[in-house]
Amino acid sequence: MSLPQHFLETGDGSRFPSIGLGTWKIPEAVLPDLVPEAVAMGYRHFDCACDYGNEPAVGEGLRRALASGLCSRDDLWITSKLWNTYHHPDHVRPACERTLSDLGLDVLDLYLIHFPVTLAFVPFEERYPPGWFFDPASENPSMKPVRIPLADTWGAMEGLVGAGLVKRIGVCNYSTALLRDLLAYASIAPQVLQVEMHPYLPQPRLLRFCHEEGIAVTAFSPFGASSYVPLQMALESESVLDDPAVLEIAAEQGRSPGQVLLRWAVQRGTVVIPKTQTPAHLRENIGIFDFALTPEEMSRLDALDRRRRFNDPAEFGEKAFNTFYPIFD
Ligand SMILES: NC(=O)c1ccc[n+]([C@@H]2O[C@H](COP(=O)([O-])OP(=O)(O)OC[C@H]3O[C@@H](n4cnc5c(N)ncnc54)[C@H](OP(=O)(O)O)[C@@H]3O)[C@@H](O)[C@H]2O)c1
Repeated sequence: MSLPQHFLETGDGSRFPSIGLGTWKIPEAVLPDLVPEAVAMGYRHFDCACDYGNEPAVGEGLRRALASGLCSRDDLWITSKLWNTYHHPDHVRPACERTLSDLGLDVLDLYLIHFPVTLAFVPFEERYPPGWFFDPASENPSMKPVRIPLADTWGAMEGLVGAGLVKRIGVCNYSTALLRDLLAYASIAPQVLQVEMHPYLPQPRLLRFCHEEGIAVTAFSPFGASSYVPLQMALESESVLDDPAVLEIAAEQGRSPGQVLLRWAVQRGTVVIPKTQTPAHLRENIGIFDFALTPEEMSRLDALDRRRRFNDPAEFGEKAFNTFYPIFD
C-alpha cells in the first residue's frame, strides 16, 4: 500500500512520520476505534503521554490495528512522555514501564521529558495519572515544586535506552538555553524537541538552533487557539484557522485552513501532531502531501508571528493550579 505519509529523517537516520495523531483530550471511549481508523488512513505516528490519562485506550486501539494486519509494529512510531512528578532518577524507569504496560508495548519509539517542571512524587497507588495538583482534595490545592536537576532526570532517560525500553529520547518545552545546557552533559543527545508551534508562535530561532544541532522538532498545537478555547486559555478571536491570510491561502490552494497550517509546519521542516477525534478532520489532516505552498505563501504565514503562546505554565499554573511556575520568560 502506498502511504499518504511522509517522513522526516532524524539525526540518527530514523524515519520520523511527518504527521502524527495527537491524543491529548481524546476520550477513552473513542480511541479503540479511532486508532485503527487512523492507521487505515495512513497514520503511523501516535503522540501519547501518561498525563493524557488515556494510554490504555490508545493501547487497545493499537492492539486492534495490529491484530487486523493493517500494519506491523515496526511500521509504527509511538511517542510517550515522562510526567513532571517522576523526574527523580528512581522514578523514571517505573514511570516508563507503566506507560509501556498501558500501551501494551515492549518498547517506545520516543520518550520525552514532558516539561522542564519538577514536581513532588505521587505514588501510582495514590493517583495515576497524578496531574498538576499535589493535594487535589485539600481546601487550597496547589502544585508542589521540588528541586531535582534536569541532568539527573536525563541520565535516567539515557538508562532507558541502555535497558532497551525506549529507542530514542528527547524533551518538550525546552528553550535554546536549556537545550544548549543539555547538549553539554548528555551522553545521548536528544533526538527530538516537542514544542508549541503555529504561525502565531513560529519560534524561528528555536527551530534554526535545533536544525543546526541535528535535533528534530515536533510542533504541537498546530491549530493554535483551537485546543485552548474550551480550557478558557484562549479567545475564539485568536484562532489562527480564521486568520485572513490563512483563509486567503486556503482559497488560493483549494484546501482547508487546517491543511494550510499543517503543510506550513511540514514545509518548514517540522513533524506535526494534530489532534482530532472527528473522522472528517482525521482524513483532512493527513491529506497534505499532494500540494505545496509557494515560497511567497510560506513567507506570508511566517509573517503572522505574534509570539502568542497558549500553553504556558506561568499562566495556567497560577490560574488553574494556584502556583506560579514560569519556564518561559
Ligand atoms: N508536549 C506538550 O507539552 C504538549 C502540549 C500540548 C499538546 N501536545 C500534543 O500535541 C497534540 C496536538 O495539540 P493540541 O491537541 O493541543 O491541539 P491541535 O491539534 O492544534 O488542535 C486540536 C483542535 O483542533 C480541532 N481540529 C483538528 N483538526 C482540525 C481541522 N482539520 N480543522 C479544524 N479544526 C481541527 C480539534 O477538534 P476535533 O477533535 O473535533 O477535530 C481540536 O479542537 C496534542 O494532542 C498532544 O498530543 C503536547
